[in-house]
Order: sequence, then structure tokens, then C-alpha cells
Amino acid sequence: ADIEIDAASYDHTGHEHFMAKEIHEQPEAVERALRGRLDPRFHTAHLGGLNLEPREARAIRRVKIIGCGSAYYSGQIGAQLIEELARIPADAEPASEFRYRNPVVEPDTLYVAVSQSGETYDTLAAVQELRRKGGRVLGLVNVVGSAIARECDGGIYLHAGPEISVASTKTFTSTCVAFALLALHLGRIRDLSPSDGRRIAAGLRALPGQIREILAREEHIASLAQELSRSPGAFFIGRVRGYPVAREGAQKLKEIAYLHAEAYPASELKHGPLALVGPDLPTVAVLPDDDLAGKNLATLGEIRARRGPVVAVAHTAPDPKITENVVLVPKNEPELDPILLGVPLQLLAYHAAIALGHDIDKPRNLAKSVTVE
Ligand code: G6P
Repeated sequence: ADIEIDAASYDHTGHEHFMAKEIHEQPEAVERALRGRLDPRFHTAHLGGLNLEPREARAIRRVKIIGCGSAYYSGQIGAQLIEELARIPADAEPASEFRYRNPVVEPDTLYVAVSQSGETYDTLAAVQELRRKGGRVLGLVNVVGSAIARECDGGIYLHAGPEISVASTKTFTSTCVAFALLALHLGRIRDLSPSDGRRIAAGLRALPGQIREILAREEHIASLAQELSRSPGAFFIGRVRGYPVAREGAQKLKEIAYLHAEAYPASELKHGPLALVGPDLPTVAVLPDDDLAGKNLATLGEIRARRGPVVAVAHTAPDPKITENVVLVPKNEPELDPILLGVPLQLLAYHAAIALGHDIDKPRNLAKSVTVE
């Protein structure tokens, strides 16, 4: 079902579309997600609604995250954050797949359901199935009092404010921030050191200002998007932390620009998709300065050797022979970098859709929340 837009309470205030408004609201949305939640004494996160005692948090052996669409991709970023900071094995799965495969529900697994609206039927049904089997489920939800929020044992509200555009932007970013808080909280109960806790908390506090820096590059991103909009589609590539970012970037381009976009782990390109690379198929590369940067550059070299155009979202500009089409993103802590690397990809899809003249806030065939099977 469509969300009814109450024109009296919301408007675009200074932006042409809700999507643009919501992209630009991200610094404040992140500030709200963090407000009152960082503990400067113990370098951890306070999350009042978790309903999870420290003893129970210590007993968790696995984290399973479920959601649909962008919520699922944010769950992949969340799973990596939990593995890295709390050292608990974690993964994400589309909620509908999960519920239809008669999942084995384990007592020492923490289940996390992600939903902006809190009303997505596939996610709700998966939560109900989990609870019926005795699973403990946390919800990462934006809409207070929504069906999924009510059904869960506890959770974290995003406090991102209403999101009207069908394509999620600020709630995606806020969900990643909520996962970072959860990972910090679980990590500090387990083996994350106080100094690492302090490092992550400082990184989280730096996010709003860094998002503003990225938003200031909108004009440059729009010019890259215009060029991209003339292609039949695009590959999005990234490795490990960059891969879910690439998946969400491809999702945005499909949703509103109606361009075929497919995301691959950069390492998988040579195992099939490389056959499609050539002058007509651009690749958008997520290129953080991490220990995989050399490998990513080698992959981009392979693409250039086949004359494939490259757009890079990077911490440092690569050799101009690889590409001059670069969006620079400020560096944070490596674990938190995916949150920032995703922001230019929202603007890239937005401006590609504008260039193509599409209905930005209500893309064809899609609804803001899918409350049917
Ligand atoms: C729909 C929307 C997607 C969204 C998904 C999950 O399919 O078109 O953009 O990511 O639902 O929505 P939720 O409200 O559960 O986060």
C-alpha cells in the first residue's frame, strides 16, 4: 500500500523532491540516531530498548539479520559491523527467503529484523515465525509503534523522521548507524577494548560533518550522473566492506533511474561478468583506502584494458589512467567507512533519474512499503 502524503505536515522545503530533501537531511538524521546513546565513560552505546541483559548478550553465538530491499542491504553492512566489533558470526538474508525455508531457530542466535516502515509483510511474517519458534528478535525500525516494532522483543528506533520518497536514503544511513551502535554495545560487553570503543564512538560523532562534506560535492556528482544516464546500465563493484555499499548503489539506480544495474564483489568480475565489460558498460567502483585497495585497483585495470568506463567513489583519487571520474569521500574509521561511501551513490542515482526525466518520489511499479506477500 502507498503511504498517504499529508501535504499539510510535510513539504519539500527548498528541495525539488522528497528524495533530495531526505538525502540532505542525513546529517541531522544521524545526529538524532546518536543522541544520548554514546557513553563517554565506558566508550560504549546505551540502547534503552534492547531488553538484553549483559549476561544474555555474552551468550549470543550468532546474529541473523533479516529485511527486504534496502533494509536487507543495510543488514549486510550491519552483519559486518557486528562481526568486526563484537566478533560474533553474523549474516543477513532477505526476510522472505528466510521465512519460506523453514529456518532452524537456535536459542543462542540473536535475530534482528530491519524495516524502515515497520510494516513490510515479508519481514513481519518472518518475525512472527521466529517468535512462534521461541527466537529472540530485535527490530531496527523507523516508524514508532509500527507492526514490526510491536512484534519484536526489543530494538532500536532510528528517529530519522518521516521518509516519504519510495527510494530509501536517510533511513538506510540511519540503520547502518544503529547497527554500529548495536555492534559497539555488544562489542564492549564482549571483547572490544575501551580504546577501540573510544575510536568507534569518535568515528560515529564525526559522521554528520563528513556527510555534509559529501553533500557539498553534489554538483560534481550530478555531472557524473548525467554521463551515466546515457548508458544502458552499470556494474557496481566493491570488496568486503564495499560490497553491500555497491549492492545498495545498484538498487538505487534500478529503483529510480530504471537502469539495469548489477553489483558484484570486485573479485567475482573475472568469474563471468567481465565478459560484458566494454566501452558501453560503465562500472561504479567503491574504492576505500583499505588493505584491499591494491586488489581493487588491479580489477579496475582489467576493466580499463577492455575500455570500460569507470566512476570511482574513493578516499583518494586513483591514477587518472584508471579514471578521472572520481567522487572523493572523507575517511572515517575503516569499520564505519561504508556508511559514508554509500552517500554519493544516492546522489548519483538521483541525478541520473533527473537527467532521464523520471518521477523521483514515486517510481513505477514500486510502493514505499509492501504490506502484501
Ligand atoms: C519496498 C521499497 C524498498 C524498501 C523495502 C523495505 O520494497 O520499495 O525501497 O527497501 O520495501 O521496506 P522497509 O519499510 O521494510 O524498510
